[in-house]
Order: sequence, then structure tokens, then C-alpha cells
Amino acid sequence: MKCQASRFGFATSLSLIGEVAKVNGSMGKAKSQYDFEAGREKMSEEPQDLFTRFGGAEAIARIVSGMYDRVLADPELAGFFTGVQLDRLRKMQFEFISSALDGPIDYTGAELTAIHKGRGITAHHFAKFCRHFADAAEAHGVSKRDVDLALGRLAMYRDKVLGETSIDG
Ligand code: HEM
Repeated sequence: MKCQASRFGFATSLSLIGEVAKVNGSMGKAKSQYDFEAGREKMSEEPQDLFTRFGGAEAIARIVSGMYDRVLADPELAGFFTGVQLDRLRKMQFEFISSALDGPIDYTGAELTAIHKGRGITAHHFAKFCRHFADAAEAHGVSKRDVDLALGRLAMYRDKVLGETSIDG
């Protein structure tokens, strides 16, 4: 069990989190300025954007890491990731999800349709992948409501991930 954790990059996750913590730290000022602006229209103390409600960059890096631990431990999904550079994958997914949750981070990876094309990913695989994301987020204390909102964001990319196996166009 221990060796599986290191195989899938515990050290990697830590270095990613370190990298991300710097981004997070440098964002501190801008973020509180943003909150101050947004505060004029706020009805409650709850931060308005999902990225912040998820806990910011550091929390999202940990959630992405936890998600891939679950994905790679899932016999129906693990095979898709054989030979994939997991360090890069975690970093790119961190950027993608942060950006999809309205975070101030740009996604610099491949276009989603191109990277998933021809891999035989079905709606079932997609649903399981999203479930692992949701479980990882809930395990990190994200509220059920915010997890559902984030799942709604990911659902917008379903057709791109499924590519030619999607029948709804
Ligand atoms: C909402 C769902 C998903 C999102 C947002 C997503 C996003 C991403 C991103 C951002 C990358 C990195 C691209 C890069 O390296 O530049 C990636 C790579 C990859 N994804 Fe997904 N993905 C999703 C679902 C899935 C599912 C369901 C599978 C398979 C079961 C899958 C399999 C892969 C594989 C194998 C790679 C690595 C490709 C490579 O490096 O050669 N993804 N995905």
C-alpha cells in the first residue's frame, strides 16, 4: 500500500503543492482585494467563487492528487493511464480544474478533444472519473453543494472527453 502511494507520486504531489502554494501566496493580496470588491454585493460571508470555496490552489492540488490516487486504484480506469506521465497529468489537471472553478490560473495543456480522442473512453468511464473527483473533494471537506456545482462544470466537457463515442454531438 505504501509503495503504491509513492508510485503514484506522493513526493510529486508535495512538490506540486509547494509550487502551487507559491501561486497561492502571491495571490493573497489580489484575492482579498477581490473579496472586498465582491463584498459590496454579497448577501453572506461565503466566498463567491468555487475556486476559493474549494480552499484555493493548495487544496485543489491535494484534491487532484487524491482523485488520481482513486482513479489509478480503480481497475476499470487504471489501464487508461498506463505509460502516462503522471507528474504532468496532475499538474495539467490542477490547472484545468482550477480554471474551470473560476480560479486565477491558466490552463496550459493540450486541447481536451485531441488528448482524449481514440482512447475508447465511454460515458461509464467518464461518470466514474467524475465520482472519484467528487469523493476526493468531499474527503477534503468541500460541501456537497459545492461538489455538485463543480460536477456541473466538469459535465460541460463530457463531449470533448468522450469524442467520437458520444452520440449527443
Ligand atoms: C471531466 C473529465 C476530464 C477532464 C477535465 C480531463 C482533463 C484532462 C487533462 C487536463 C489532461 C492533461 C492534458 C495534457 O497533458 O496536456 C488529461 C489527460 C488525460 N486524460 Fe483526461 N480528463 C477527463 C476525463 C478523463 C477520463 C474519464 C479518462 C479515462 C478514463 C481520461 C484519460 C486521460 C488520459 C489517459 C490522459 C493522459 C494523456 C497523455 O498524457 O498521453 N480523462 N485529461
